[in-house]
Amino acid sequence: MFSDPAGNSVAIARQYMDSLLVESRVAGAVRPDTAFSFLGETFRTPIMTAALSHIDLAGMAEGARQAGACVSIGMGGNEEFAGVLATGAKVIKIIKPYADPEAIRSRIAFAEENGALAVGMDIEHAVNTDDAEDSVVVGLQMKQPTLEELGTYIRSTHLPFLVKGVLSAHDAVVCRDLGAAGAILSHHNGLLKYAVPPVMVLPEIRRAVGPDFLLIADGGIESGFDAFKALARGADAVTMGKALMGPLKEKGAAGVREVLEKATAQLQAMMIRTGTPDLAHMDPSVIWEPVPYRHG
Ligand SMILES: Cc1cc2nc3c(=O)[nH]c(=O)nc-3n(C[C@H](O)[C@H](O)[C@H](O)COP(=O)(O)O)c2cc1C
Repeated sequence: MFSDPAGNSVAIARQYMDSLLVESRVAGAVRPDTAFSFLGETFRTPIMTAALSHIDLAGMAEGARQAGACVSIGMGGNEEFAGVLATGAKVIKIIKPYADPEAIRSRIAFAEENGALAVGMDIEHAVNTDDAEDSVVVGLQMKQPTLEELGTYIRSTHLPFLVKGVLSAHDAVVCRDLGAAGAILSHHNGLLKYAVPPVMVLPEIRRAVGPDFLLIADGGIESGFDAFKALARGADAVTMGKALMGPLKEKGAAGVREVLEKATAQLQAMMIRTGTPDLAHMDPSVIWEPVPYRHG
């Protein structure tokens, strides 16, 4: 049903997203509010930027700030991070699972000292896709953190810690129990082949972790319609990555702002047609899915 001959998880997730259908509950619907309370801040939208890198991160952050959106950023040094924070955006810094613990500790310390909203780690980028060796990312050695190491990083900071790369109820519960504030559900553009789509596994993860653990859906969110499906299925927020990159390159911050504002308007359109007045009233029963996949 949802398949790709090469196990391309990006393609599989797109098919799954497009298979989800939405029923209408427009009778008596009121104009919806997309205000999003998150980690003590209020944003205009639950659509945030994905943890990108090797692009104009300050431009991306400025565009997101103008759109009233939260920003997450990926790998890079503290100087680049400072440029992102200087935009005034609220920033989540996702730190790589570096083999060198000092590389992690120094980034957490910088985030704490310079007013980041939260930190996290993309644990899905520790090992290679085609063998079990630790990854080398732009020349930097990664290492799969042990549970003890991950727990130590989580507990070492007063900032909320989000674990990126969670794609099962198992890992979500483990991360919650280690003290993480939430998880970013992601296969990082297909690092796991044949990955279950984040939006497919979301309801099971939500049931397992309960209502208070933050769940952010990452990967393949290209519109506010996609965002709505993820939010209705239990996400607190969603991220947009690749969909921002072309507009950022063409128009800088204005391109990012335009994409996020358009997606937020589409989300609002889907909310009014489903009788969803605000984010607290997202209801998974408005979504119809064709095939109930089960654990094998
Ligand atoms: C150019 C590029 C750089 C990325 N760098 C990082 C990174 O440094 N850290 C990280 O956690 N994810 C990184 N990602 C992955 C994204 O955060 C995200 O998981 C992925 O792109 C899927 O979301 P999308 O379909 O909305 O792009 C990167 C993705 C792209 C395209």
